[in-house]
Amino acid sequence: MQFSQRTDWPLRHNRLTELLDRRRREGLPVLDLTISNPTSLGFSYPEKDLLSAFSQPSILRYTPDPKGMLSAREAVCGYYRTASVELDPANVLLTASTSEAYAYAFSLLCNPGDNVLVPTPSYPLFDYLAQLADVSLVPYPLHYDGSWHVGIDAMERAMSDRTRAIVLIHPHNPTGAFLKEDEYRRICRIAADRGLALIVDEVFLDYGFDAGRGQMGTTAGTRDVLTLTLSGISKIAGLPQMKAGWIVLSGPEDLRKAASERLELIADTYLSVNSPVQVALPAILEGHTSVSSQIRQRAADNVRTLRSLCAEGSSCTLLDVEGGWYGILRVPNVRSDEEWALELLEKRGVYLFPGYFFDIEGCHLVVSLLTEPTLLDEAMRGMLAELGRK
Ligand SMILES: Cc1ncc(COP(=O)(O)O)c(C=O)c1O
Repeated sequence: MQFSQRTDWPLRHNRLTELLDRRRREGLPVLDLTISNPTSLGFSYPEKDLLSAFSQPSILRYTPDPKGMLSAREAVCGYYRTASVELDPANVLLTASTSEAYAYAFSLLCNPGDNVLVPTPSYPLFDYLAQLADVSLVPYPLHYDGSWHVGIDAMERAMSDRTRAIVLIHPHNPTGAFLKEDEYRRICRIAADRGLALIVDEVFLDYGFDAGRGQMGTTAGTRDVLTLTLSGISKIAGLPQMKAGWIVLSGPEDLRKAASERLELIADTYLSVNSPVQVALPAILEGHTSVSSQIRQRAADNVRTLRSLCAEGSSCTLLDVEGGWYGILRVPNVRSDEEWALELLEKRGVYLFPGYFFDIEGCHLVVSLLTEPTLLDEAMRGMLAELGRK
């Protein structure tokens, strides 16, 4: 029996997950600072409204539309209207998740062997998606000098005649950095000159901590470059289990129309978005801030806690974070990030992601900002004691 090379993945556990499994098997405590599943972290969901959104007779009828039900697409337009962006529902296509939206985007834009540019560091999401679509990933850097910047010169150098698209994550995961207007304008010019599409992942757009910093808004509705703006309710409504995402198509009309026809056929091939979630989407999106505001508040409070715990004298520094669900902690470079993560788990029961999971250069650990505050405080104190003082 032969399987495709596409699926020749190393399926073994790494040392950290092995240690974690062993501790759990042995009943030893684990202070888990990696959890970002919002449904398991004590947020209060509008249960009655959500459940009644799903108990509608229309979920019993099957009326397939490859782009998704018009009422659901109009609800997506309503979400953008709250940010003063007016969209035509014809330019919205529903998917079962943002991950699926990436797969559609890669199928739309790339032949086997073509490439897309992706940021480094990054959430480990693209490798498998790209392999499954026979697409190569070419990294471009994000630089840190007290705040994060897109390495646009390096991005340009990384382009080849097989490059089809640039992936932008706005705000980025795990750095939490928003795109800056000037960066975005420059990237748009480069993409337009070279005939590249932009794939902009905005799943964390509602999670900026500091509106006063004039953070850039959505890219949906832009005119100059073919742009696929991706989002979904797993993050903006804290409902990953409901499985609904979308692509908003923007850009020059001829390209947008051609892309829309092709995407419609891709979506028609799978028809993967279930009817109940489409029927419920207007109510979910109307009420999405009730959970997202709790999540944003907790993340912002946790950033303050981390800043004060890692203040002067500590050997741990929280890198600048403008939003999102993760914080990056710089730790002493006296051993690798994996060794730190193993030691903290072994000696203090504190579980953090090592930075290499996200291709972060140097010695860093990554913490979920959704962690329950008392757990964060206890675990961070244990971690700082282990790290020692400067
Ligand atoms: C930046 C980013 N985009 C997309 C996703 C996946 O979103 P979805 O659950 O809609 O597939 C994740 C998952 O954490 C993510 O970090």
